[in-house]
Amino acid sequence: MSLSTTSGFRLLPGRLSREQQQALLDEVLAKTKDAPFVHQTTPGGKPMSVAMTSFGDLGWTSDAKGYRYEPAHPATGRAWPAMPAILIELWAELADPEVPPDACLINFYNADAKMGLHQDKDEADLRFPVLSVSLGDTALFRLGGPRRGDPTASMKLTSGDVCLLAGASRMFHHGVDRILPGSSQLIPGGGRINLTLRRAAPSS
Ligand code: SIN
Ligand code: FE2
Repeated sequence: MSLSTTSGFRLLPGRLSREQQQALLDEVLAKTKDAPFVHQTTPGGKPMSVAMTSFGDLGWTSDAKGYRYEPAHPATGRAWPAMPAILIELWAELADPEVPPDACLINFYNADAKMGLHQDKDEADLRFPVLSVSLGDTALFRLGGPRRGDPTASMKLTSGDVCLLAGASRMFHHGVDRILPGSSQLIPGGGRINLTLRRAAPSS
């Protein structure tokens, strides 16, 4: 890996213990009963292979009208469930001690799911980082640079890993080429859950 140490990208392998991973997974699965994973469609009308939901004040939504943050789940119309406390604590420790996250996107990847190279740019204030937590099967994560054609590096994100797109890396292109099915026993039935904490609304 030849990522510049000045990029602001941080990978904290195994930041969550097996017990913390299990407790977070249990909380996520309980909360997604009220806010189920859905395959949203791109503005171009294609269903995404990743199933998504959100926690917090705002959730990420995609449909024919475009990408945006909304205060309610697109299928149920209900407010998103509250964010798990452990995630708010991680954000305070690693991202910003004063301004809490207001959105937590939750992606579920089955054996066939992937996420194309993109930038996270639907948030109002891009000075706040994106903090990512991985649970379950290992992902082959790809990280590029600020421009679409920049060279990319591939790395594994395994269950319990936390990473931060902060500083310059906040605007780096990134995606998930695929997951490695069967690489973790954490999630019943297999698959991967990725949680990303963000500050979506203006902070003042
Ligand atoms: C994302 O870019 O929204 C998700 C990245 C991941 O699943 O690790
Ligand atoms: Fe992203």
